[in-house]
Amino acid sequence: MSDVLDMRAVGIHLGRGKGRREVLRDVTLRIAPGETLGLIGSSGSGKTTAGRIALGLLRPDSGTATVCGTPYRRSRREHAGKVQAVLQSPQWSFNPRRRLGDSIIEPLGVVDRGLDRMARKERCAALLVQVGLLPVHAERYPHELSGGQRQRAAIARALITEPEFVVFDEAVSALDVAVQQKVLRLIRKLQDTHGFGALFISHDLAAVRVASDRIAVMLAGEIVEQGAPGEVLDHPEHAYTRRLIETL
Ligand SMILES: Nc1ncnc2c1ncn2[C@@H]1O[C@H](COP(=O)(O)OP(=O)(O)OP(=O)(O)O)[C@@H](O)[C@H]1O
Ligand SMILES: [Mg+2]
Repeated sequence: MSDVLDMRAVGIHLGRGKGRREVLRDVTLRIAPGETLGLIGSSGSGKTTAGRIALGLLRPDSGTATVCGTPYRRSRREHAGKVQAVLQSPQWSFNPRRRLGDSIIEPLGVVDRGLDRMARKERCAALLVQVGLLPVHAERYPHELSGGQRQRAAIARALITEPEFVVFDEAVSALDVAVQQKVLRLIRKLQDTHGFGALFISHDLAAVRVASDRIAVMLAGEIVEQGAPGEVLDHPEHAYTRRLIETL
């Protein structure tokens, strides 16, 4: 099976006019099926930009981004449902006027037209249970849930299409430590069941250590170190990684 993410020598400039600058340079990242790559680095180092390229939301100026064996072309349709994202602050990503169940089944609209409304509802209920919520939560509105519950609902929405690749960008950073640990354990458990590969972006080293099989360290738009969590976090080679570990 091909890698869920195969990013080679990716470079990108962002901004307009005098504000235009190089944000990523020669970034090479690979994620195997079922594997989680943690991406750490200080604020502004380019983590979210790398994630947006992995999601096909930004096009690199140089290099290639191949996801689930297919490079991104003009339309993201080929990747619909195969690639999903869980982002920070799901209170912003859920429509406040829609019941959660409707938001959760929404991604199915683009991939599984054959599935009728009842089957969708059933899949939603099953997934709500898997993420530790209840089927009745489908009837609730986003503001009626706690932050941790909303984050679980966001994970349910990402998994409803049974994706091969999920990008988590600061997905647990807004939660307090106890809830964070629960959600991280949940992500690991769901990965065992669903087998998706993941890019786990976070400035929280404890979270990255729990979530990741491998870790990549980003400094000013470049990857400076990659390896097993124990190697990178406990025996960093690069002086920047050592400083990052001290400051984060
Ligand atoms: N659309 C844009 N136009 C101009 N500059 C941008 C744009 N998006 C990001 N940047 C710049 O690119 C750099 C990397 O931003 P990015 O959001 O990828 O960092 P990050 O590592 O995710 O940071 P954080 O940890 O704060 O989320 C920053 O200097 C940012 O200002
Ligand atoms: Mg970011």
